[in-house]
Amino acid sequence: MPAIVIVGAQWGDEGKGKIVDIYTERADMVVRFGGGPNAGHTLVVGGEKLVVRLVPSGILRADTTCVLAQGMVIDPRSLVTELDELERRGIRTVDSAGERRLLVSDRAHVILPYHVLVDGLREKGKGAIGTTKRGVGPCYEDKVARRGVPLGAFRDPARLRELVTRAIEAWTPIIRDLGEAPPSVDETLAAVEPSRARILPLLVDSQALVERAVREGKKIVLEGAQGTLLDVDHGTYPFVTSSTPTAGGACVGAGVGPTRIDEVVGLVKAYTTRVGGGPFPTELHDDVGERIRKVGAEFGSVTGRPRRTGWLDLPALRYAVRVNGLDALAITKLDVLTGLDEVKVCVAYDTPRGRTRDLPMDELDHVTPVYESFPGWKQDLAGARTMAELPAEARSYLELVEREAGCPFILVSVGPARDETIVLRDPFTTPGR
Ligand code: GDP
Ligand code: IMO
Ligand code: MG
Repeated sequence: MPAIVIVGAQWGDEGKGKIVDIYTERADMVVRFGGGPNAGHTLVVGGEKLVVRLVPSGILRADTTCVLAQGMVIDPRSLVTELDELERRGIRTVDSAGERRLLVSDRAHVILPYHVLVDGLREKGKGAIGTTKRGVGPCYEDKVARRGVPLGAFRDPARLRELVTRAIEAWTPIIRDLGEAPPSVDETLAAVEPSRARILPLLVDSQALVERAVREGKKIVLEGAQGTLLDVDHGTYPFVTSSTPTAGGACVGAGVGPTRIDEVVGLVKAYTTRVGGGPFPTELHDDVGERIRKVGAEFGSVTGRPRRTGWLDLPALRYAVRVNGLDALAITKLDVLTGLDEVKVCVAYDTPRGRTRDLPMDELDHVTPVYESFPGWKQDLAGARTMAELPAEARSYLELVEREAGCPFILVSVGPARDETIVLRDPFTTPGR
């Protein structure tokens, strides 16, 4: 039974929440492997909308085990807010057998108030890159600098105090330099104390849990956050997040060997969006860009910021196919393009060194996209459940994208709701490899 990885193929917000929710209908386990409360995954069921930031998008499936793995960074206060929200909506975190089904790695790192403070202060300065200001970057900095606080320290108040003291010492000159007074150890511990008791019972060795499920042949979805072009190694550095949202990050973040992954699915919007700073060669600054933002409701689900919008970028998509070793693509938000007279797609770039079909990562500020243009369509797509029900113009657009990306479509999404979906293949019953 397969373990499948779902990753964003662009700059995040591709619709991972909706698609993971669909795939978890038959999954035993869903595992968030990286990132933190910088993510916002939207689930729309029965006209109701739920945005999850830390909790995996399988939470609406009553018997799916949801794991927050050790590649994540977790703000305990955000987690408790999310748990409260689930409770308020009557979404149970125990399964029908009475077993806990929401579990958190004791090796995931804790986002503490000083991380949030530093992230916010840096964003006021010259080096701002448009982060979500949730403390994600500084928390990963601490982890890599080997002075982070794993959630397991919540079990031992003396160890927690010692780790927090050491980290505050390290951050003090930086915070002072940014013009603020560093927080005290006592106030930092007091800030997380109320959430400590709520989180303690959820802590597990998630690597052992996930790996055992893989060995037992359970159906597992490894849920990505962010997107390929935000990857700290493979994205548009330095305008990236501080983790590894690409498929390799699923193995590292969840503790599952690459040989155990059966399929890697990449999510791509029918156009492109990006929140925050950094290069975006196909960005639109005109009425069409504004229309896509409005029709697609392209406003950040974490920060509410208007998302930058633009045409689909095939050199970037081919790059994502390669970096993640994608077996299949799921394309979302095709319906958002309905009503446009013309739909364009970037097929290549003109660079100072000539034309290329690749993504010249180091020259993205100096490229001119080469577009192919398609006639638009006017029909409402939301009711389409097969490719044959799509207008011919939309089908030719998809055919070009599939051919140029060199990766087959597994699903086409035509609206935010669960059923507004054309399913071409089910990865759990028909593996792609
Ligand atoms: P994620 O971060 O990748 O999970 O994506 P977000 O939830 O941040 O943003 C995607 C938005 O698009 C959400 O509001 C979804 O409800 C919505 N969405 C997903 N798929 C579709 C689709 O096919 N059509 C439309 N119109 N909206 C969609
Ligand atoms: P989901 O999972 C879109 C972007 C931020 C910023 C950069 C660094 O919903 O797709 P950070 O706070 O991570 O240090 O910010 O990364 N970013 C996202 N953009 N979707 C996300 O998550 C994102 N998570 C981070 O806007 O440009
Ligand atoms: Mg999002």
